[in-house]
Amino acid sequence: MESQQTPEILDYRNENGQGWSFYKHNGLLRTIRTTPEADMEMIRNVQKFELRDDDVIIAAYPKCGTHWLWEIVTMLRAGNSEYHKKSKEIAMLGMPKFERANELPSPRVLNSHLHFCHLPEKLVEKRIKTIFIMRNPKDVSVSYFNHVNGLKEIFHFDGTYSEYLDLFLEGKVPGGGYADYVKDWQQAKQDNPDLPFLTLFYENLKKDPVKNIKTVAEFIGESVTDELCEQIAEACSFKKLKVADTEVKEEMADPTHIIYRKGEVGDWKNWITVAQNERFDDVIDRNLEGTGIVFTYE
Ligand code: A3P
Repeated sequence: MESQQTPEILDYRNENGQGWSFYKHNGLLRTIRTTPEADMEMIRNVQKFELRDDDVIIAAYPKCGTHWLWEIVTMLRAGNSEYHKKSKEIAMLGMPKFERANELPSPRVLNSHLHFCHLPEKLVEKRIKTIFIMRNPKDVSVSYFNHVNGLKEIFHFDGTYSEYLDLFLEGKVPGGGYADYVKDWQQAKQDNPDLPFLTLFYENLKKDPVKNIKTVAEFIGESVTDELCEQIAEACSFKKLKVADTEVKEEMADPTHIIYRKGEVGDWKNWITVAQNERFDDVIDRNLEGTGIVFTYE
């Protein structure tokens, strides 16, 4: 079995030494933060992680609005628009010390950037409500570049956006290819029709937060007033969350604003050249062919 052998190391750094080394797990590229063995052990622990019937889980590729949605769902479950004292990392499957989520009272709002096959084995059997959020890949690439570039001590990336884009379009970034991730979850949804599954788009949440918050509330079975949905939308607006993040959160706050950076649709236009844009469209069209997914870019 793949996971029991010493995995092959795939060094995908570019000629300037920028980028990452990977190994493959279940056919998926995983970055090597310490060792493949440690990563495989972490995945096994996530797969064995005990879910509770009333858990909700948010699944998202990095930079698709996970923090934002986690705050929204957490408020909906609490029935008020008060900020949680902890940030979503406390309940993030795949993060170091993710077992801390065991200490959280129910109902929990879990979240993860892991692929479906790396999540707890009981997810389908327990019919855990799963919310999947996507964002247009051009803004994801810009947001992700700023994230890895801003957290150099963690990601060890010191290249340009252009260098990052080359790696992103080939799926050689932490978390693997964006299109692969999206297709993995689409497949999971198709293969498991009994899994309660809601798909959201970052751009729709931005355009009409109240409507989307109502949709989420209905999906997770919370009966809420229009007034509360409006209050949550307001409390979770980009500006307010950014302030709350540093003023309210007890740990894992983001004083350098790498998470709460810009919060806009279409920032990619400030970064991507015409030639890069053509290549981007080409790669995304090819990689997402047949999925029926249509992204909003502005
Ligand atoms: P930008 O880097 O484009 O600003 P994640 O939580 O998955 O890491 O995603 C982070 C992205 O979501 C960042 O994108 C961040 O600014 C954006 N975001 C966070 N809160 C938001 C909000 N309330 N409204 C809009 N965007 C938000």
